[in-house]
Amino acid sequence: MQKDLQKIKKEFETKLKKISDTFSLEQLEQEFFSRKNGKFNDLLKGLKDLSDDARKKFGKIANEIKSELEAMMLAKKEIFQKEILGKIAETESIDVTAPQLPRQERGHLHPNTQLQYTLEDLFASMGFLVWDGPELESDYYNFTALNVPPHHPARDMQDTFYLKGHPDWVMRTQTSSFQVRAMQKFGVPLRLIVPGRVFRNESTDPRHEHTFYQMEGIVVGKNITFGDMKGVLETVAKHLYGEQTQMRLRPKFYPFVEPGVNGEITCSLCTGKGCRVCKYTGWLEIFGAGMVHPHVLKEGGVDSTEYQGFAFGFGLSRLVMLKYGIEDVRHLQSGDLRFLQQF
Ligand code: DAH
Repeated sequence: MQKDLQKIKKEFETKLKKISDTFSLEQLEQEFFSRKNGKFNDLLKGLKDLSDDARKKFGKIANEIKSELEAMMLAKKEIFQKEILGKIAETESIDVTAPQLPRQERGHLHPNTQLQYTLEDLFASMGFLVWDGPELESDYYNFTALNVPPHHPARDMQDTFYLKGHPDWVMRTQTSSFQVRAMQKFGVPLRLIVPGRVFRNESTDPRHEHTFYQMEGIVVGKNITFGDMKGVLETVAKHLYGEQTQMRLRPKFYPFVEPGVNGEITCSLCTGKGCRVCKYTGWLEIFGAGMVHPHVLKEGGVDSTEYQGFAFGFGLSRLVMLKYGIEDVRHLQSGDLRFLQQF
């Protein structure tokens, strides 16, 4: 039996020497020490046939040899582990001098949209419905229903994109085009805003763009007054530009309101002292407004002897430009990331 033990030990040592990876080492471990059919354990099973004395003697020797072989195996295992760790360290070490990896850009809302959402939240808090109107609009809703009959000179105020072959259709020139639609759709009382894109057939320059954004509002009900209109618009101005902001209304003709006004606020950039942006007047024009004309109420199916209302239209793109001091309206639609990433 002792001979067999020595033989196994030799075989183990020879095989161990040739082993160069953890996987083979584990296989060797199984081959010799597996409980089920490991060579070493098989040999130990023979111990039970020996006499008590012999069993004690060989049992002791066998255990010593086993410990010896296990220690050799463990030593080899450690060598392999160190090698593996070394390789990982080589390939996965952090080079603190390496340039930063490009970060995945997450993007953000366009400044126009940011401002639109701010206003939508404010109007919603005052009980306004936020609605969306069509950009391709009938000539009727864009002009005629708004008290601008065909061939009326007021059409010249807004250069219009007509659809080729469809003279009754236009790209809406103003979100006011939704006023009559809104009255027809929702009836009275009505409190609603419509933000959206509008289109004008203009040659572009820093102050003009063929496509820009407006936000229209309309309120119709009983006993609605010019004072209500002023209150709402002043709330908007202060919300956007701060409590110290003052507002003034000056008469201006718009065919769909009577009386019509032009709304100005104290310049937010120079606080009314006068600067390049407000053309040294201290005032900035930010909306048109007025009491809804009886003709328009009639088109909307509303009895003007019983109901009154006011309407207003903000140039959203203009508000964005004023808020950030943007000097050229064309930046807004340029899609240029160098511009957009500033907001
Ligand atoms: N639609 C007008 C424009 O584009 C702005 C406007 C003026 C809207 C007066 C209104 C209003 O609702 O009452 O210039």
